Amino acid sequence: MPRAIISPSVLASDFGQLTAECKRMMKGGAEWLHMDVMDGHFVPNITMGAPILSCVTKGVPGIFMDCHMMVAQPEKWVNDIADAGGALYCFHLEATSDPLSVIKLIRDRNMKVGVAISPDTPSTAVTDEIANAADMLLVMTVYPGRGGQKFLERCVPKVAELRARFPEKDIEVDGGVGPKTIGVCAEAGSNVIVAGTAIFGAENPEEVITNLKDAVNT
Ligand code: DX5
Ligand code: ZN
Repeated sequence: MPRAIISPSVLASDFGQLTAECKRMMKGGAEWLHMDVMDGHFVPNITMGAPILSCVTKGVPGIFMDCHMMVAQPEKWVNDIADAGGALYCFHLEATSDPLSVIKLIRDRNMKVGVAISPDTPSTAVTDEIANAADMLLVMTVYPGRGGQKFLERCVPKVAELRARFPEKDIEVDGGVGPKTIGVCAEAGSNVIVAGTAIFGAENPEEVITNLKDAVNT
């Protein structure tokens, strides 16, 4: 299995201190930072987009921004996110009828490619062709749209199905993941762990990051 990567979701951070929050997480052992972009169409909420991403990537040199695009037209934002310094562009399969051309657009801008599936989408929606063209597969463990929701354990078998098909791929879980739910995720084979509330809400985020990483590595 690929190595463990912890990607704290900045949706749970203090936006007024965003760059400082990102630095704090990196100091605590996070290699990636997860940015939830919501457009008010694919999901009801609006969060942040390329202008804020640009502030973060300029303010924190070397940061790896894992951009989770909960947007209705994923093809529309590829250039803006690339220009703003996004490292990975992860879009939802539910949002497009032509995932392979979205992947090509992302590759043309030299970003890593992620493909996400929401709780009601089966793992078979990720065809071999799509998975082979992507760097990372994201299995949502809550309905996309907001932080702080309850982990949906019924999504975990999809992680195991994808891990069996793609032993070398990065597989990310996102939504309600923390010290209590990491065990089943790690056992099923996810290696990229997103956690918002569990990390930013902790007294000692560094300890949570270490625990999550250890759970994947054991
Ligand atoms: C939900 C987002 C998640 C969210 C995770 O739509 O995609 O990334 O911020 O937050 P927690 O870990 O609090 O569920
Ligand atoms: Zn997310």
